[in-house]
Amino acid sequence: MCGIVAYIGKNKALPILLDGLKRLEYRGYDSAGIAVLNSGVHSIKSVGKIKALEEKLDSKKFSGKIGIAHTRWATHGEPTEINAHPHSGDQGKFWVVHNGIIENYRTLKDKLIQKGHNFKSQTDTEVIAHLLEDFYKDNITDALISTLKLLKGTYGLAVICKDEPDKLLVARNGSPLVIGVGQDETIIASDVSALIRHTRQVIYLDDGEIAEIDQNNFRIINIQEKEIKKTVEEIEWSLEQAEKSGYPHFMLKEINEQPESIINSIRGRTIIKDGKVKLGGLETIMNITRFIEKISIVACGTAKHAGMVGQLMLEEYANLETSVEFASEFRYRKPIIDQKTAVIAVSQSGETADTLAAMREAKTKGALTLGIVNAVGSTIARETDAGVYNHIGPEIAVASTKAFTSQVAILALFTVLFGRQRQMSMVMGRRILGELNALPDKIKFVVKQNNKIKKIAKKYYKSNNILYMGRKYNYPTAIEGALKLKELSYIHAEGLPSGEMKHGSIAMIDKDFPSVFIAPEDSVYEKNLSNIEEIKARSGPVIAVTTEGNKELKKLVDEIFYIPKTLEMLTPILATIPLQLFAYHMALLNNKDVDKPRNLAKSVTVE
Ligand code: F6R
Repeated sequence: MCGIVAYIGKNKALPILLDGLKRLEYRGYDSAGIAVLNSGVHSIKSVGKIKALEEKLDSKKFSGKIGIAHTRWATHGEPTEINAHPHSGDQGKFWVVHNGIIENYRTLKDKLIQKGHNFKSQTDTEVIAHLLEDFYKDNITDALISTLKLLKGTYGLAVICKDEPDKLLVARNGSPLVIGVGQDETIIASDVSALIRHTRQVIYLDDGEIAEIDQNNFRIINIQEKEIKKTVEEIEWSLEQAEKSGYPHFMLKEINEQPESIINSIRGRTIIKDGKVKLGGLETIMNITRFIEKISIVACGTAKHAGMVGQLMLEEYANLETSVEFASEFRYRKPIIDQKTAVIAVSQSGETADTLAAMREAKTKGALTLGIVNAVGSTIARETDAGVYNHIGPEIAVASTKAFTSQVAILALFTVLFGRQRQMSMVMGRRILGELNALPDKIKFVVKQNNKIKKIAKKYYKSNNILYMGRKYNYPTAIEGALKLKELSYIHAEGLPSGEMKHGSIAMIDKDFPSVFIAPEDSVYEKNLSNIEEIKARSGPVIAVTTEGNKELKKLVDEIFYIPKTLEMLTPILATIPLQLFAYHMALLNNKDVDKPRNLAKSVTVE
């Protein structure tokens, strides 16, 4: 995820900027850059680690006391040196670092090109530097305000100007920025972990605010230039806590990030009024996908569970024959695939050895290979014919949470894309996309009930076994819930299609064997209800996840957890979250290391 550090003050900017960038490394990035002002602007960028940037630097040249720095996680344009920030306009007067996405950058860029501006990069950010130059007369703040008025989208940005070497400007809209107030110095960062070593006195910038900073003073204004009074707050977090935004574990942080990560996964990709999807990464192959007759999804673990939801969506709404396979099995079988098959590799890390091998195998058989990958520039992202990034930032906890919900959301986008190329109506496209866009608020409602889940976990954490059951779209949710419990708490769990339990597993049920049912009010609700009755008839405790407002199940089961109503195909996104929280609390109550469960690695690069 992109990161910003900026400095103005009594000390040399370079060491503080470099230290800040290193503190942001944990968030993941693909390139980095720095610009420092001293008799002109000196800038340097590099692809890869901050160490590579440091090695290129001539620190004598970078001796100024004002500067900006950035770690980039590619969104618009490849991870290259040219696309790395800071960006400048034609005259090299303004230098900008930016987090977020400028949605109308193409329109702005076209207009600027017509006016004679020359663009160097493929980024959305570069338009900001050109607009600043275009508007500048003699006041950097005026130029910034005029620029911000034209931008649509999100930004956290920091700007320096060659002609006003004692000023640093920052602005925020939808992308966080914190101002660290020190003794005769100010450090700005997108994340407190980058400034906590220098000061604990901070001001959190809100959306629509601009800060104009010089060595000793700062002024916060809004876009109408009205001054805003802000209070300085004291950060009490340790560096480790700061990296986790105050959450005790990365896993809990990542579970709570899901409203935002879903927004980031679908932002700019849905055109609701036309019931259409726009996936930049697939644009070059849209003529090929039209003729695809079969889809095969290859993935491992949690990513495979997301793929299973994708299979149901693609069959039901895009009318495409779809199979989903364990990547580790796919490569040793004789899968029937040809030029009319698209193989979709789903992988958070983009480095999972089995998924990579399955994808390579599919390629040799002539299939079109597509990727749904989170890690930009990873091997799967590079080797597939085309693909879509999740844009959810790094997932640090070993157990996958926000990647799963994002993978399902992107598979829903694939469904609309392929469906609209086939028989899906505009009305249906609109409906799916409308519901997808409504999910972030519904997820907020679910994560707010963390304490309720914790109470349920307190009753069940000594269980030795738990059965997870669901049907249709929520059978994958059931096996995902079981996997989360196993890997975090080491309690044995099994996921089953509800209808299968009476073919054997029901023999295990007694008063000490709890079952979790994912039973929202959908097309298979009644069927689930009968299975719950069968468990209750054998004194088995039941925890149910169902739709808000359902009273019937409340009378029948021991514990109930409500999720908001949504389209049936999207219920796994909402229903998985209480299961993630349940596994998290069960593990903590059993004194397990939730972020780093034993025997597991985040990226499984061996077979
Ligand atoms: C479970 C988990 C794993 C991964 C699997 C695939 O919580 O994290 O099951 O989902 O190892 O990893 P990626 O998505 O990186 O290919």
